[in-house]
Amino acid sequence: MQAGPSAAERAAVDELLGPPTSAWDGALERSEFDHRVARGGADARGDRDLLLPALHALQGAAGWISPGGMNYVCERLTVPPAEAYGVATFYAMFSVEERPPTVVHVCDDLACRRAGAETVIDRLRSDDATVVASPCLGLCERAPALLLQRAGDQVDSALAPVTDDALEGLIRDGVWGDADAGPESAPQAWEAASREGLRLLRRIGAVDPSSIDDYRAHGGYEALRLALEHGPEWTLREVTDSKLMGRGGAAFPTGVKWKAVAEQPVRPHYFVCNADESEPGTFKDRVVMEQDPFAVIEALTIAGITTGCERGYVYIRGEYPLATERLVHAIEEARRHGFLGDDVFGHGAAFDVELRRGAGAYICGEETALFNSLEGKRGEPRNKPPFPVQRGLFGKPTGINNVETLINVLELLRIGGRAYAGIGTEGSTGPRLFCLSGDVAAPGVYEHPHGVTLREVIDASGGVRDGRAPKAVLLGGAAGGFVGPDRLDVRLTFEDAREGGYTLGSGVVMVFGDSADLSDTCLRIARFFRDESCGQCVPCRVGTVRQEEALHRLVQGRTLGSRADELALLEDVARVMRDASICGLGQTAANAVQSAIASLGVFGGGEADALEGEAVPTRTEAQES
Ligand code: SF4
Ligand code: FES
Repeated sequence: MQAGPSAAERAAVDELLGPPTSAWDGALERSEFDHRVARGGADARGDRDLLLPALHALQGAAGWISPGGMNYVCERLTVPPAEAYGVATFYAMFSVEERPPTVVHVCDDLACRRAGAETVIDRLRSDDATVVASPCLGLCERAPALLLQRAGDQVDSALAPVTDDALEGLIRDGVWGDADAGPESAPQAWEAASREGLRLLRRIGAVDPSSIDDYRAHGGYEALRLALEHGPEWTLREVTDSKLMGRGGAAFPTGVKWKAVAEQPVRPHYFVCNADESEPGTFKDRVVMEQDPFAVIEALTIAGITTGCERGYVYIRGEYPLATERLVHAIEEARRHGFLGDDVFGHGAAFDVELRRGAGAYICGEETALFNSLEGKRGEPRNKPPFPVQRGLFGKPTGINNVETLINVLELLRIGGRAYAGIGTEGSTGPRLFCLSGDVAAPGVYEHPHGVTLREVIDASGGVRDGRAPKAVLLGGAAGGFVGPDRLDVRLTFEDAREGGYTLGSGVVMVFGDSADLSDTCLRIARFFRDESCGQCVPCRVGTVRQEEALHRLVQGRTLGSRADELALLEDVARVMRDASICGLGQTAANAVQSAIASLGVFGGGEADALEGEAVPTRTEAQES
């Protein structure tokens, strides 16, 4: 007999999908009608995109996805169980093995390792907690960080920084019930003096994130009013004039993308806000979503209406409970006040937004993987072309931008596209958010105009903690590269980065002081990519494993042949991954390691000078949004 759901699982799924209408989709009783009519075909499969939310419902109800619960979801959505199993096992936050209702995800990624994450893991494990060592949780400015993933009545919550007192408090309380989430944002954003001159962060710390009235009192919804009054053509012209480039890393011109979507004859169009920031060291979008959530919804509404969409999605990473809660509230409030719905602002345009949670998969930040995830499939990237502006979400023309790109639109409409283009440099206009973490005095999100130097960005965060020069800076995240202390005067613009062979990526500036063990850092990066490769194409699936193995051999001094042989092998693997991988993950998985070898001499490299002057591809060519 087929396993069935528990009462709690059935209730959780029914709350999401509504009660079943017939025995064909899971009702307990078979009606007379069911003997004659069966819903089938495309209609029955039309709700497939609700698979991820339904799996979240099961995970949240029981703390794991039981066979009975999965069977019930499959029945409700007409999804073959094997496919649902493939989806459930793709995501790190889902478990198909029974486990306790509270699981502690402790970040052991780059910044948190430096801040003692391994001690936190050991201490929690010694207390029999169910601990999962996690990649970056997007709380790097408050490292070390952990996330409590809970089932039943309790909601997920983050705790950062995990101080000794906080850790002992958690262990003492046992049930993890009263975790204090700690400060919510970057410390510098709270200080009025440092807010002066800010454009993207100007409301952070000043506005009540739960109040639409307060948001409006701080200039909120002015940009949407302008966009609606002047119409889509005007908005598109302003965005084009601003020369705004996407901030996800690929630096694709936003105006070009929006125009391409707007011009597609196929209907409907969709617009997606990519809020799945998962690049280790990146947390700027989280800070914006937590502290200024209405801005994200307003900007997405402008993007949607301008490009001829009636429906938008926010795809947010599953590890951001506070940002999720605030965005959900902002969407409800916007709807209640007529800023979303059938007649936005009374101007006759229709646009609404749905929020969807990811479930722990870095690759879902890649736009086509994100679409697959939204459609209820494994988050595997698609081949391009066709590009999303032609065939994106549900096979329809789709615009996609990340949070930072979108909120820039509010500013450029406020001051005018041409004025915006006057900020920064000719090729890199506007302000930019940087995520400062690691060994800096005041980690956090900082806003600077493009053209600022790396040294200035580090100095603005109080400089290196011990007052000395950094040993290295990881620029652009794990998919970026290392910059040595001799290159701190590089300018942070797209054009300088292209020319100098470094990448701005998602704005990560992670600083490593004197005592940092860079081989350990490289190993962690290699492990990250090995874990996060979706496995779809061979160069990446095998290359990320080979890279990690070679690094382990180098660290342990058990090389196959000489050290130079291993370095040559690593370079070879890097080249194959870069040239032959389907998406940006594989294409950039060796960037950081190769830059550490070439420019910092880690693992005894450096003579090869392999990356000097050579443009390092960014994760973004495929990852952009
Ligand atoms: S490059 Fe890696 S992550 Fe991208 S599709 Fe291939 S296996 Fe998947
Ligand atoms: S939260 Fe730990 S490295 Fe980002």
